[in-house]
Amino acid sequence: MKTIVVQWDCRFGDPEFNFGRAMELMDREPADIYVLPELCLSGYNFKDKQEVDYLSEESHGAYAHRFMDLARSRNCFLAYGFAEKASAGIYNSANLIGPDGLIGTYRKIHLFNRETLFFLPGDRPFRVYETPVGKLGLMVCFDWFFPESARTLALQGAELILHPSNLVLSWCPDAMRYHALWNGVYTATSNRIGREDRGGHVFEYIGRSIIYSPQGELLAEAPLEQEGICSAELDLSLAREKDLNEYNDRIQSRQPEFYSDISVT
Ligand code: ACM
Repeated sequence: MKTIVVQWDCRFGDPEFNFGRAMELMDREPADIYVLPELCLSGYNFKDKQEVDYLSEESHGAYAHRFMDLARSRNCFLAYGFAEKASAGIYNSANLIGPDGLIGTYRKIHLFNRETLFFLPGDRPFRVYETPVGKLGLMVCFDWFFPESARTLALQGAELILHPSNLVLSWCPDAMRYHALWNGVYTATSNRIGREDRGGHVFEYIGRSIIYSPQGELLAEAPLEQEGICSAELDLSLAREKDLNEYNDRIQSRQPEFYSDISVT
């Protein structure tokens, strides 16, 4: 099952350009699953809530429909990040789309830095979607910093974690290796490149979109600063084999009764 992670320099405030760029890059190679970056239509570095509002759309909005048309015509699945307009406010979300339409919307739970000024934190649990290509979990960018994110998806049976990102912390591409290894899942992180200097706030994005196997093997890695795609063939049945040896299993060997948050005084 071929998976492609896509990275480009998302242009702030220009969803039409960004959608076109995504199409051009996806046109380079057919795949079963594509992963696009976080907030890949709007850009990331908002100055104020008005911008977020103006650049957001509903989970079934116009661009979602265009991605659905694309997935139908190519018979593929794709995950992409966008600013989701909802009745309670705006979420930093990712849609999972397949040939039959919208499969689900994940709302980023762990907001990073100034995102906390503009977005509501996700109000729904992590969730795994059973699809014809496998069991797919979604998390968005800074969720990586919390081991519970990937673990929760793995405990729900995720075989592949799709991870749209706008990474600014350099550790993430390497850290994803351990989420993959510890949980025995594939991970596919799509990260943008470029720099956004807006309203006195600068973010530099680190590229290195990356795919790991359930054994933590590097399967594909994009460069730091170059637009493009990178791909890997995944055998998702390997993500169902959690044993490390005759005696240890990544899931069964856990000791959850000792993992309580309650501190000892
Ligand atoms: C991030 O969560 N965009 C760093």
